Amino acid sequence: MKVVVTKNYEESCKFVAKEIIDLVNSIPDAKIGLATGGTAQNVYPHLIKAYEDKKVDFKNVSTINLDEYIGIDPENPLSYRYCMDNWFFNHVNIDKANTYVPCGLNDIESEIKTFNEKLYGDKLLDFQLLGIGVNGHIGFNEPHDSLTAGVHIENLDESTIKANSRFFDSPDDVPRKSITMGVGDIMKAAKIVLIATGDNKVEVMKALLMNDYVTTKIPATILKLHRDVTIVIDEDLAKKAGYVK
Ligand code: F6R
Repeated sequence: MKVVVTKNYEESCKFVAKEIIDLVNSIPDAKIGLATGGTAQNVYPHLIKAYEDKKVDFKNVSTINLDEYIGIDPENPLSYRYCMDNWFFNHVNIDKANTYVPCGLNDIESEIKTFNEKLYGDKLLDFQLLGIGVNGHIGFNEPHDSLTAGVHIENLDESTIKANSRFFDSPDDVPRKSITMGVGDIMKAAKIVLIATGDNKVEVMKALLMNDYVTTKIPATILKLHRDVTIVIDEDLAKKAGYVK
């Protein structure tokens, strides 16, 4: 794994955006896996700015999002479809027909089928953007005795419900289930970039960066098996995790 330590979170977001911009400039019809979550959110304004400055063109790009809550309406401002439209898609020249965020209201079996068709119907993902949960989840692949390779329904871990309750009125309002890419789907992306920041990610960063173990109890550790992963963290997190002095 390559580790990039930036001065601060804003620089991390800029770095990640530049990775995506460079990718689209070299592969104009790039197929990109996207993430939501508070950390990834601030990457998108940099992509929008680059588009406005004519430094990148999203006309032929297609995207697939990692996950979505089950039972949430895409029109609900807390749905990942709503977030992606408002954070990014509505502000650039991407063809919305080429963007896929799983729908949490559709029949589950047919949505899993659609998700797989989107992932594997043409080429594989050129790039996957990831955040990381406090428990090491990637997408919504929560810690278990074993991990699921393909698209599936996942019960959210208590720690995820607690962490994501900041976006809802109360923890009771956080959906309990999600549809997510599996770890195998994520690992098939040609290039993976994970962005993390904040004191609540210190422990998980230690597990990712400070030893060579892979464990299903910290799902992100599977990334150690991928040949092109970049972890982007700010100096503060890198220091607290013991990665830099
Ligand atoms: C979001 C996703 C999640 C988040 C993770 C971190 O699409 O797949 O894995 O990346 O929960 O979320 P934040 O950045 O809010 O801590």
